[in-house]
Amino acid sequence: MNSPRLLNPSPADIALAAQTLAAGELLGLPTETVYGLAADALNPSAVAAVFHAKGRPSDHPLIVHVASPAQVRLFASEVPAFAQALMDAYWPGPLTLILPRRPGVADAAAGGHATIALRCPSHPLAQQVLQQAQALGVQGVAAPSANLFGRVSPTTAAHVRQAFPGLQVLDGGACDVGIESTIVDCSRHAPVLLRPGMLTPAQLSAVCGVSVQRNAPAPATGSVDTAAPPAPAAPGSLASHYAPRARVRLMQAQDMLSRLQTSPGLAVALWLRTALTVPVRQLPMPADAAACAHELFARLHELDAAGVEEIWVETPPADAAWDGVRDRLQRASA
Ligand code: TXA
Ligand code: MG
Repeated sequence: MNSPRLLNPSPADIALAAQTLAAGELLGLPTETVYGLAADALNPSAVAAVFHAKGRPSDHPLIVHVASPAQVRLFASEVPAFAQALMDAYWPGPLTLILPRRPGVADAAAGGHATIALRCPSHPLAQQVLQQAQALGVQGVAAPSANLFGRVSPTTAAHVRQAFPGLQVLDGGACDVGIESTIVDCSRHAPVLLRPGMLTPAQLSAVCGVSVQRNAPAPATGSVDTAAPPAPAAPGSLASHYAPRARVRLMQAQDMLSRLQTSPGLAVALWLRTALTVPVRQLPMPADAAACAHELFARLHELDAAGVEEIWVETPPADAAWDGVRDRLQRASA
C-alpha cells in the first residue's frame, strides 16, 4: 500500500499514480475542469470506496474517464452520429457524453443505470495517468469531483487534501477550466444538455448537425412539447450543490450596497464585478465568463475559509457564455 502523499508531476510519480489506480486504490487526479476522486471503473470495490469516501448515494452515477475515444466502445453499446461528431470536435476536453451502456459493464460506476457517462479529459497529467493505467489493465477511470457530496468542487490539490487528508493526490496545479464538464445526454434520439459547462449549446449544436436541447423541466401546466425528449433522471442536478459552509447569496451590487447600509456589522464577504466602497472584505470577479469559471470554486473555498457567515456574489450576466457559472452559483446559493 502506497503511503498517502502529494505526488509531483514527475515521471516517477505519474507512474506511481497509474499504479495506484491499477492496485484498486483511490487517487486525487487533476483534470482541466476540476480534480477527480479517481478509481478503476471496472473494479467494483474501488468504485464502492469512491462512493463511500464522498458520502455519495450509490445510485448517483459516476463519470468514466477514458484515455482515448477508442475506449468508448468498451463501455457504450451504441454511439449515435451526433455523439461521434461531439467527440470528434471536443475530445479530449471538458465534455461528458451519456451513452447507452453495454449490459454488465461498469455496473457499480453507472449506479445501475442503463446508460454510462464518458469523458476523455485533456489535462496532460490526466492523459498520462490514463494511458499508463490502461497499459496496466485499467480500461476506464471513474472519477467524481473530489469533494464531499454537496460541497464545493476542488480546483487545486490543496482543496482535495482538505476534503480527503489521507488521499494520495497528483498535483497538477490549478485547473484551467475551473467548473465541471458540460454533460450531454446522447442516449436518446436527440442530444440534451444535462449540465451546463464552458461549452455552450450553440457550440455543441454547431458540430452536431442537430440542435442540442436544454433539459428544461416539464411545464407545470399546459401541454408538454412532444418534440422534446422527456426529461431524463439527472441525478447530479440537485438544486443544492457546491455549497460552502457560509451561506451564498446571489444579488445585484446595488442590493449589496443598500443591505450593508441598513445592517452594518454583518459578517459578509463579497465577490463582485462592481467595486463598492464598503468596509467589508471583497474580491474582484472577472468580467469574462471563462476567467470567472477558472476561479469560481477557489474563491468560494477562500471566502468560506475567511469564516464569514455569508458570501454575497454579484449576479452573473444573462448571456449563454455564463450558463455554467450561473448554474454553479445558483446551486451554491440554493
Ligand atoms: O468535469 C467533470 O465532469 C468532473 C471531472 C473530475 O471529470 N467530474 C464530475 O463528476 O463532475 P461528478 O460525479 O461530480 O458529476 C457527474 C455528473 C453527476 O451529475 C451525475 O449525476 C452525472 O454526471 N451522471 C453520471 N452518469 C450519468 C448517467 N448515466 N446519466 C445521467 N447523468 C449521469
Ligand atoms: Mg461533483
